[in-house]
Amino acid sequence: MFKLISVRYKDILYIEELEILENKVTCIVGESGSGKSTLLRLLNKLISCDSGEIFYKDCPINDINSIELRRNVVMLPQQPVIFSGTIKDNLLIGLKFSDKPEVDDTKLHMVLDMVNLNKELSTDAEKLSGGEKQRLGLARVILLEPEVFLLDEPSSALDENTEKTIIEKLVQYREITNKTVVMVTHSKKTALSYSDSIIEITKGRISARKENIKNEYQ
Ligand SMILES: Nc1ncnc2c1ncn2[C@@H]1O[C@H](COP(=O)(O)OP(=O)(O)OP(=O)(O)O)[C@@H](O)[C@H]1O
Ligand SMILES: [Mg+2]
Repeated sequence: MFKLISVRYKDILYIEELEILENKVTCIVGESGSGKSTLLRLLNKLISCDSGEIFYKDCPINDINSIELRRNVVMLPQQPVIFSGTIKDNLLIGLKFSDKPEVDDTKLHMVLDMVNLNKELSTDAEKLSGGEKQRLGLARVILLEPEVFLLDEPSSALDENTEKTIIEKLVQYREITNKTVVMVTHSKKTALSYSDSIIEITKGRISARKENIKNEYQ
């Protein structure tokens, strides 16, 4: 899905070669400040590399219109923005920004259910807890149904049980819909349990790469 060749971003990240496979879950792990979020931002063209080349489906991403790319490659930032208004407003605003048609309340309830957020659509979003806001952010990107999800620590504010439930549902959804998920996580356990491939970044460089994780652990 993505190929990176000799990609450098400031003195923060240098990736000699990396391939991220389509229809798989790839987890990115590594210590704080190692460059994980920077890698996700590069894949979505929120930032551009200083040298080297990034390909999306064999096409240099510099040749793809940024808006067009971001319709297919959607990023959930480490701290998703919550807008004033209701849960429903916050879900629909994602579709509006991406120029996608509105959906009915049944669909909205479905995505809320996927992230275990059992609240009324009319609930004031600003009153939600940190973990609830994080799940609302995740629901908003699921609703966009992109080809690729770039998720920056989507479960960092959640307790272990909620994290497990949500990641399991997300992985199931990915399997059914053939989506590609690239997920930053601090949890090695999450990475080992749910990913097909793990990339470890240390001080801006890939320090380890593990493939076929699920085959090994199941
Ligand atoms: N635009 C920028 N200008 C200068 N330094 C930056 C910029 N963006 C990120 N950095 C620095 O690059 C390094 C990597 O940042 P990044 O956010 O990618 O880390 P991370 O691995 O996601 O960390 P965390 O686990 O804490 O989220 C950090 O030292 C950060 O301060
Ligand atoms: Mg980060």
